[in-house]
Amino acid sequence: MGQPQPILEPLTPAAHFLVATIEPGGEAAVRDLLAELAGLRRAIGFRLPGAGLGCITGIGSAAWDRLFGGPRPAELHDFPGYDGPLHQAPATPGDLLFHIRAQAHDACFELAMAIGDRLAGAATIVDETVGFRYFEQRDLLGFVDGTENPEGALPDSPAGAAALVGAGDPDFTGGSYVIVQKYLHDLPAWRALPVQEQERVIGRTKLEDFEFAEADKPADSHIAVNQVIEPDGTEREILRANMPFGSIRDGEFGTYFVGYSATPRTTEIMLERMFLGTGEATHDRILDFSTAVTGTLFFVPPQDFFDDLPAPPVADTAAEPVGKAAAQPGPAPSADGSLGIGTLKRSSTV
Ligand code: HEM
Repeated sequence: MGQPQPILEPLTPAAHFLVATIEPGGEAAVRDLLAELAGLRRAIGFRLPGAGLGCITGIGSAAWDRLFGGPRPAELHDFPGYDGPLHQAPATPGDLLFHIRAQAHDACFELAMAIGDRLAGAATIVDETVGFRYFEQRDLLGFVDGTENPEGALPDSPAGAAALVGAGDPDFTGGSYVIVQKYLHDLPAWRALPVQEQERVIGRTKLEDFEFAEADKPADSHIAVNQVIEPDGTEREILRANMPFGSIRDGEFGTYFVGYSATPRTTEIMLERMFLGTGEATHDRILDFSTAVTGTLFFVPPQDFFDDLPAPPVADTAAEPVGKAAAQPGPAPSADGSLGIGTLKRSSTV
C-alpha cells in the first residue's frame, strides 16, 4: 500500500483549508507545485519544531484529467449535490484542496502563503477557511464533535479501513476520497432551543457527550441518521476531521465538514440520508440549524504519487503554460474583502 498522506494523524488545534480552481493553461504550474509541496512542507516544518505541520492535498475529478494521463482513481467523480425537500447541499467549484494542519496557526499560514504564491496566475483560490479547535473538541453548536470516529493511526486500524482505498484499486491503494462542505450555523435559532431539545437534535448529551440509548434516540437526530448499518450488521464508517470556523464581523459561525473515506459512496449515503431522508426521518434535524454553502469531492493520492507524478495528458502538452511568469493578476477581492463564498449563495449546479 502507498504511504497515506497524514489523514490518520490526530486532529490538530489549527487548520487552514484552501480550495482552488485551475485556470486554463495553469496545469503545468499546478503540477510543479504538487511536485514541490512535500519539500515546501519540510522547509517550513523543520524551522518550527513541534508544529507538526502537515498538508493533505486533494484533486478534483475534472482537474485529474487536465493534470495527468494514465489511470484515474476508480471512484473519482464530481460532488453530486443534494436537493432535498427542505434542505440543499450545493455542489461548488474546486479542482484542488489543501488541508493544512498544525499545532499552531503560524505554521499553517506560512505554508498557505507559499502555496498561494506558487498558484498565482495558475489557479484561483475560491474558498479559504481558517479552522480552529474549540474547547473540549466542541463544534460551535457546543457539542463534542468527533467522538465516534474510527480509531487508529495505522492503515490496518479501523480508521485506516474507513478512510483508505484498499486493494480493490491497486494503482491508488493508500489514497482516500474526501468530501468537504462548509456549514453555517444559525446560532440565534440554536440558542433559542432548550439544551434538552438540542440534545435530541444531535442524539447525545451536551455536557458529558454521552450517546442516547437506542430507544431514546430520535430518528431524525444527527447520529441516528449517520449510523449506516449494512444488512450484514457491519457499520459503514468515515473519518471526520471537522473544524469550527467563524467571523464575528460577518456573524458567521460554522463547521467545516471534512469526511475522508475509502469510497465516496459511504459519505454520499450519509448525505442522502441527511438531505433526502431515511424513511423514518424526512431529514437530519441538524440541517434545520446548519446550512451547507459549499460542497466538493476530491481524491487524495498516496504520498509517493507526488514523488513521481504521472505524465501530463497528451492533449495538454501543447497548451501554453501560464503561472508566475505570466504574471496574470488574480481575481479582484470583493468590496468587503471576503472571497464571496461561504455566504448563503446557491450553486446553479444543484
Ligand atoms: C453542521 C455540520 C456538522 C456538525 C456540526 C456535526 C457534528 C457532529 C456531532 C456533534 C457528532 C456526535 C459526536 C461524534 O461522534 O462525533 C457527529 C457525529 C457524526 N457525524 Fe456529524 N456533524 C456535521 C456534519 C456531518 C456530515 C455532513 C456527515 C456525513 C456526511 C456527518 C457524519 C457524522 C457521523 C458518521 C457521525 C458519527 C455517528 C455515530 O456513529 O455515532 N456529520 N457529528
